[in-house]
Amino acid sequence: MKSPQFVAPLLLSAVMFAAPAQAEGDAAAGQKTFAQCRTCHSVDAGKNGLGPSLHGIVGRKAASTEGFKTYSPAMQNSGITWTEENLKKYIADPKGFVPGNRMVFVGLKKPEDVDNVIAYLKTAK
Ligand code: HEC
Repeated sequence: MKSPQFVAPLLLSAVMFAAPAQAEGDAAAGQKTFAQCRTCHSVDAGKNGLGPSLHGIVGRKAASTEGFKTYSPAMQNSGITWTEENLKKYIADPKGFVPGNRMVFVGLKKPEDVDNVIAYLKTAK
């Protein structure tokens, strides 16, 4: 029998290795975080609110959501395509990435929240 003092650290390291180093976001967690966006955005096609529908946003050009009439000139002229990389920067710091845009949102501060929301948005297509 090994002494408990010896077994405990082994168990601890087993747990640490079992937790996967999550590089990709978690869509289920992202759906919860998206609650912060839902007041203005839906992920349903054609359902625009205060903000444009984010249906199929990943890979699309900025300011190209059908039927959304109130894009700012800043967003219209940004020339951005919403790659994951650009979404990451925008969601973390909307005003910093697209100065003058109309999205009244300070940005998600936790990188894992940003990754999770993007993973969720990828499912909305
Ligand atoms: C207070 C309302 C509001 C909240 C909250 C909000 N947005 Fe927005 N969002 C907007 C508006 C308005 C625009 C259009 C901005 C513009 O044209 O300048 C926009 C634009 C966007 C765009 C670009 C869309 C396009 O068609 O180019 C993305 C992506 C986006 N928001 C993601 C998010 C995410 C993700 C969250 C939550 C973490 C969020 N937004 C929270 C109002 C909001």
